[in-house]
Amino acid sequence: MLERQLHKSFMSDEIVLPEHLDKHLGSMLQFREFMMRYNSALREIRTKFEVLNDHLSVAYNRNPIEMIKSRVKTPASIMEKLQRRNLEISYSSIEENIHDVAGIRIICSFVNDIYEVAKMLASQDDVRLIAVKDYIKNPKENGYRSYHMIVEIPVFFANNKMDIKVEVQLRTIAMDFWASLEHKIRYKKNLKDSENIAKRLKECAELITDADEKMQEINEMISSDANSDANI
Ligand code: GTP
Ligand code: MG
Repeated sequence: MLERQLHKSFMSDEIVLPEHLDKHLGSMLQFREFMMRYNSALREIRTKFEVLNDHLSVAYNRNPIEMIKSRVKTPASIMEKLQRRNLEISYSSIEENIHDVAGIRIICSFVNDIYEVAKMLASQDDVRLIAVKDYIKNPKENGYRSYHMIVEIPVFFANNKMDIKVEVQLRTIAMDFWASLEHKIRYKKNLKDSENIAKRLKECAELITDADEKMQEINEMISSDANSDANI
């Protein structure tokens, strides 16, 4: 109920925040400014990845990034996470505790592209690496694989500069395929025989891991052929 009201308020300019939320989160203007900062951080970080891809394309004839998707967490989802974790409802609490308000997903061609692009981002001197979760080397029990980073980047506004956190998820096309469908299936209600479903999803994750490895091997074979041709 609370989440719905906040969500509704945020989606419309006319409706003001309900009174009990107003107490925690101030005015609608303040709320919009807060969300705007995360949107701005997403634009900055998207540009960083686009620049990396452009440079690799021009200088090395490579295109490690297939696609970039980004999103700002919905107010309803922020509220839900604060409440689930029993955290204070305030802007500073969101800034400190919710690291995925701004989220960007980088879909790469091959697994080694992920590590390369992640390293290039982390080595930029305005990027502060806060945390890494390597679910490629250590997949989740259900089979989920991706490389997660929490980074903080500076964003310049009219009168100030702020360091904003962004969650970066790097995946191959295959990993994204699995995660998107798994997410869709998981959120379907009344799943019968969920044990069997989990087992089958894990089997799919293993197939996909194998496919990623094979694709990378084939790519390396072709690249080394092309290099030896160039040497002739
Ligand atoms: P939250 O899940 O956001 O509370 O964060 P966390 O601290 O547990 O972080 P984690 O790095 O494990 O997951 C962050 C995000 O990765 C999630 O919000 C999803 O987008 C994605 N993710 C993690 N695990 C899974 C999974 O099992 N399946 C799918 N489809 N996505 C996952
Ligand atoms: Mg999340």
